[in-house]
Amino acid sequence: MNPKVYLAPMSGVTDLSFRLISRSLGASHCFFEMLDSKATLYSHPKNRRLLRTHKKDSPISAQLLGADPSVMLEAAQTILGLTSISSLDINSACPARKVLKKRSGAALLEDAPRLGKIIHKLVSNLQIPITVKLRVGLNNRDLKSCVRTARICQENGASTVFIHGRTREQGYSGDVDYEAIKAVKDALEIPVFGSGNIFNPPMAKEMLDKTGCDGILVARGALGNPWIFRDIEGYLKSGTIPKPPTLAQKKRVLKRHLAYINKYKEISPACKMGFMGKIAMWYLKGLSHATILRQEICRARSYRELLRLINRTS
Ligand SMILES: Cc1cc2nc3c(=O)[nH]c(=O)nc-3n(C[C@H](O)[C@H](O)[C@H](O)COP(=O)(O)O)c2cc1C
Repeated sequence: MNPKVYLAPMSGVTDLSFRLISRSLGASHCFFEMLDSKATLYSHPKNRRLLRTHKKDSPISAQLLGADPSVMLEAAQTILGLTSISSLDINSACPARKVLKKRSGAALLEDAPRLGKIIHKLVSNLQIPITVKLRVGLNNRDLKSCVRTARICQENGASTVFIHGRTREQGYSGDVDYEAIKAVKDALEIPVFGSGNIFNPPMAKEMLDKTGCDGILVARGALGNPWIFRDIEGYLKSGTIPKPPTLAQKKRVLKRHLAYINKYKEISPACKMGFMGKIAMWYLKGLSHATILRQEICRARSYRELLRLINRTS
């Protein structure tokens, strides 16, 4: 069977516009940006904005952060009352200190009984598949405990495990531990997806070959490069990488991306301009005059001015 290639959950990045663009170039599944279970419970307006979707934005999963099984369940029920999702993911991977202090995110890696209780509570009360996003460890690499935590996920009814091949201590840099992902894949019967360092098609193949995993999550590799999904699919089928997009093609997709942000993103006009500038630079980085362009983009005061700058770029 062909391995699955999903867009990874990325807070502050994978909003509706990012998902629509990624899907148009081959991402087969996406996640809403992560939701905090406590805030979700109180239907915080920010959470409602994060759940904005579209008929083309499917299939989609939500991801919840939290440490209390009952609060997680109520939050999940609130989400299900607001939108339809094909599965719900439990975040056991977030490395942020403030998250760890609340015993959630990657802290759950060292509190597997609590993680097991959360999964069990959700699985036994909800009609949708429950998945878990793990890292290979908190501070140290420990293959046995990594496999034990993954087994607890399976025993409590998780339907899939996504595993970022770095410890919490590594954050987002350093080598990806293919051996640990393989150990988890070999130990479980449910599907296992690998995440980490998938920046081009050969890196995707390396993850699949070295771990035997069932699918992969593409994260930073998709920033300014939504073509990566189409490229990975082509490479896995034929061993060749399609030609990179021309500047004209990049500009066309970037403008579509910005149009979606303009239409769907519910933030203040100033924040929207800042956000659009960041997205534009992801697409245009690597151009010989990128530094000057960045300064001009930062100074752009309106959507029209930004489009004028992009049209002029050669
Ligand atoms: C800006 C950013 C935000 C992220 N937010 C989340 C998140 O909310 N939930 C999550 O499970 N992982 C999150 N991740 C981790 C990614 O899903 C992925 O596992 C990680 O970046 C490793 O993949 P990469 O090396 O290919 O980028 C985030 C990563 C980045 C760069």
